[in-house]
Amino acid sequence: MKHQIRFMPEDKCIAARPGQSVLDAARIARVPIRTRCQGRAACLMCKVQIEGEGIESPTKQEQLKLGIRERNGLRLACQARVSRDGTSDITVTVPEDRLRAIIRQQLEAQEDDSLW
Ligand code: FES
Repeated sequence: MKHQIRFMPEDKCIAARPGQSVLDAARIARVPIRTRCQGRAACLMCKVQIEGEGIESPTKQEQLKLGIRERNGLRLACQARVSRDGTSDITVTVPEDRLRAIIRQQLEAQEDDSLW
């Protein structure tokens, strides 16, 4: 059984194996997710928004690390694993990198300035 994971905003789709972490699936799909601890649930840099039924419930360790953020749908990509039951579509939204957001905003501001 395979699940389909769609990574947004890149809109890349990949078939993921049961038990595979979202971080591993992202690497295979060539979707960049920042990490510092290489998947040991220590850095909290791999936070993503996950929608869909095909993800296993968070482990105790992940719940402790995320705290209240877990209730808002945030998960650690390195800890969130594809469910072993059934098949379903999963949507993973990767937040924009801060540096990239700053550069994008400055480029947009330059484009607005050049119109006048
Ligand atoms: S990679 Fe560090 S917490 Fe997930």
